Amino acid sequence: MLKKVSLILLSLILLSGCGSSEDVSQSDIIGTKYQSIREQRKNGTSSQTPQTQSAQAPAAAENAKTETKENLIKIGFCQVGAESGWRNAHTNSMKDMFTKENGYQLDFVDANGDQAKQIEAIKTFIKNKVQAIVLAPVVETGWDDALKEAKSANIPVVIVDRMIKTNDDSLYACWVGSNFKAEGENSIDWLVKYMDSKGKGSDNHNVVMLQGTMGASAEIGRTEGVHEGLSKHPNYKIVFEKSGNFTKEEGKQVMEEYLKTSKDFDILISQNDDMTFGAIEALKEAGLNPGTDVTIISFDGVKDAFQAMINGEINADIECNPLQGPFVSELIQKILAKENIEKIQYMYESVYDASVAQQEIGNRVY
Ligand code: AHR
Repeated sequence: MLKKVSLILLSLILLSGCGSSEDVSQSDIIGTKYQSIREQRKNGTSSQTPQTQSAQAPAAAENAKTETKENLIKIGFCQVGAESGWRNAHTNSMKDMFTKENGYQLDFVDANGDQAKQIEAIKTFIKNKVQAIVLAPVVETGWDDALKEAKSANIPVVIVDRMIKTNDDSLYACWVGSNFKAEGENSIDWLVKYMDSKGKGSDNHNVVMLQGTMGASAEIGRTEGVHEGLSKHPNYKIVFEKSGNFTKEEGKQVMEEYLKTSKDFDILISQNDDMTFGAIEALKEAGLNPGTDVTIISFDGVKDAFQAMINGEINADIECNPLQGPFVSELIQKILAKENIEKIQYMYESVYDASVAQQEIGNRVY
C-alpha cells in the first residue's frame, strides 16, 4: 500500500521553476551547469524534486486509514541543528513526510551542530531498532565507526543534505542533497555576467567571502566552486574569507570584524542567507549600501532573501533545495523493498537574481 502511495506522491511532484533575468540570462547559467543533474534524473531512478509538499497530503491521509501502529516504519532522523531558515525548512520537509498518516514513526534528534551528539543519536537509533536511519551530517569526516555499527545491525543509512567522506561506500545506502560545488560555480557565472552587463567586466574587483561551517560539504563545495570560478578571472581577487558558521549572528560578527580593517571591497559572497542577513546589518551600520556599494550573492533562496532582492539589498541568490522529505521517503520505501536505487541523488536547484525576485517570491515554499 505504501509503495502504491509513494508512486502517487511522485506523480504529484512538481519541478521548481527557473526565473529569467533581464541583466543575465539564467537559462544560460542553469542550462549548462545542471544538464548533468537532469540527465542523471532521466537515466536513473532519481525522480523530480519535490516542490510542493501540500500536494501529497490527500494521498497520505488516505493511506493512514489502513495503517496500524504495528506496521509503521520506524525511522531515526538526526538533523544538524536549527542554525538557519534553510535548516528549519529541511526539518519541516522531513517531519511533514515522516508522519503516522504516511506510515512512519519518527524519532527526531536535533544535534545542535555537534557531531558527537549525532554519533550518540545513531547509536540510540540502533538500540531502538529503527528500520532506517536518516543522517544530515554536520561535517564530512568521522562517521565510519558509527555507520559500521548500523551496518552490522542491518539498518540502512540514508545520508541527506551534506555528504560524508568514507573509503567504504557500503556504509550508507544512498545520499540525497545538493551539488554544492556547482552552486559555487554558478555564483561566479552569474557574477561575471552581471559585471559584464554593467560594463564593469574588466574592472578590478575585491571579493569578501563568508564561509559556512568549516568541514561541512556545503562550505567545502561552495568554497571550491567559487575559487575555481574566480581562478578564470584574475581581475577578481578574494581579499578576505572566513567562516560565519551559517548563522546570522556569526555572519554579522565576521563582517563587522572585517569592516574595521577595510571597506575596500565591492563584492560579498555569503554562503547562506542567514549570514547574509547578518552581513547586511553590519554593512548598513558601517555606512555602506548593500546591493549597490557592495554586490551581494547569497545561497539558499529562502523567502526573506527574495524580499531582500526585491528591496535591492541582495543581487542574486543561488538556490539550495531543502524540500527533501518526500524524496527520502521514496528512497526508503525502495531500500526496504530491496529495489535498486541510485547511490547519489541531486536535488533540482536554480539561480535567481533581483530582476526576477518579485515574480518568483509568491512561488517560494520556504
Ligand atoms: O547544508 C546546507 C546548508 O546548511 C545551507 O546552505 C545552510 O543554510 C544550512 O545551514
